[in-house]
Amino acid sequence: MSEPATTTRHSGTVPAQPGPRDVAGSVTDRHRQEGTVESESTVARHPVIPGAGPVPGPGERATLRLRDSGEPGEGAGEPPRYAPEWLRLREPADAAARSHDLIDPLRIRLANLPRRAGGLVVHDIGCGTGSMGRWLAPHLDGAQHWILHDRDPYLLHFAAVASPRSAADGSRVTVATRRGDVARLTPDALAGASLVTASALLDVLTREEVGALAAACAGAGCPALLTLSVAGRVELSAPHPMDQEITEAFNAHQRRGGLLGPDAVTVAAEAFGEHGATVRLNPSPWRLGPEQAGLTEQWLRGWVGAAVEERPELAERADRYLTGRLAECAAGELRVVVHHSDLLALCRPVDGTA
Ligand SMILES: C[S@@+](CC[C@H](N)C(=O)[O-])C[C@H]1O[C@@H](n2cnc3c(N)ncnc32)[C@H](O)[C@@H]1O
Repeated sequence: MSEPATTTRHSGTVPAQPGPRDVAGSVTDRHRQEGTVESESTVARHPVIPGAGPVPGPGERATLRLRDSGEPGEGAGEPPRYAPEWLRLREPADAAARSHDLIDPLRIRLANLPRRAGGLVVHDIGCGTGSMGRWLAPHLDGAQHWILHDRDPYLLHFAAVASPRSAADGSRVTVATRRGDVARLTPDALAGASLVTASALLDVLTREEVGALAAACAGAGCPALLTLSVAGRVELSAPHPMDQEITEAFNAHQRRGGLLGPDAVTVAAEAFGEHGATVRLNPSPWRLGPEQAGLTEQWLRGWVGAAVEERPELAERADRYLTGRLAECAAGELRVVVHHSDLLALCRPVDGTA
C-alpha cells in the first residue's frame, strides 16, 4: 500500500452529499421522464451493496457506485466502491458501538513507547471517509499524525477534508493520505508506526489480505486496533420465521469470492496469534432503534437484498418480509442488534518501538 502522501491539517466535515432517499428519488424521477417502469419488488427497488451502501439498478447511471471517475483501470471487474453517504449514515452507530474496553490496554501500550517529537503515528487502513480517526483521536492523549490508507482515492479526499481536530488533551492532530491496497502492505510501509487501526474492514478482506495485515503489523512491532467486523448474528425485535434464513443467506453472500465475512475476526485473531501477538476481542454491536431509522432502513435493504442475490428462490417471500420489516421500522417499532467484534492485537515490539 504505497503512494505519495498528501499532508493536510484541514478540519471540517464530510461534504454534504445526497442521502440514499434523495438519490433513489432522482433515479425515480428520471425513470418517470423516460417512461420506464419501476420494479414492484421492494428488494430490487433500492439495491444496496451490503456494507457499501445504496447503488443504482441495472442500466442506471452510477451516481453512488462511483465507477465513472474515468481513471485508468476502473470499470468492470473492479471491486465495489463504498458510497460516502453510507459511511456517513453509519458513522454515529459505529462510534457508539466500538468497544471502549480495548482503549485502556491500548493507551498503556502507547504510553510505553519511546517519546517522539511528532507524537504518535497512526495508520488507518481502509479508512473510507476517516470515521475511525474522528472517533479515536479524541480518545488518545498527545500529538498524533494519522496516515489514512485506502484503495479508493475518492474516499481519501473526503477523509482529508474531515480530519480529526484534536487529541484528548488538545494536542494537534495532522493527517496524510496514502492510496494503496492492503494486500501490498509491508512492514516497511509501517516503519515508525505507533499504531495500526481499521474499522469495518476485516470482513471485506480475504484470508491472504488479513495475513498480509497481521504480518506487516508484527514486522513493524506495532499494535493493531481492528474494530467492527461483522459477527454474522443479528437480533430483530418480534422474531420472524424468516430471520434465520435471511441471516444464513446473507452470511453466505458475505463469504463470496473468498472474502471472510463473519469468519474475519477468528481468522485475524489466529493470524496475529501466529506472529506472537496478544489478542483481545470485545463485542461491539450496533443497537438500532427508532432514532436510527434511516440507517436501519438501509441496512435492512442491504441485508435482505444480499440474501436474495445469494438465494434467488427466496425473492418472493423475502420481498414480503422486507416490506413488513420496513413498515415496522417506519412505525418506530423495530429494534435491531447487529453483532460485531473489535480486536486489539498487541504485537511484540521490535527494536525501537517499545
Ligand atoms: C466498509 S468501508 C469502511 C470505511 C471506514 N473504515 C469506516 O469505518 O467508515 C471499507 C473500506 O475499506 C476499503 N477497502 C476495502 N478493501 C480494501 C483493500 N483491499 N485495500 C485497501 N482498502 C480497502 C474500501 O475502499 C472502504 O473505504
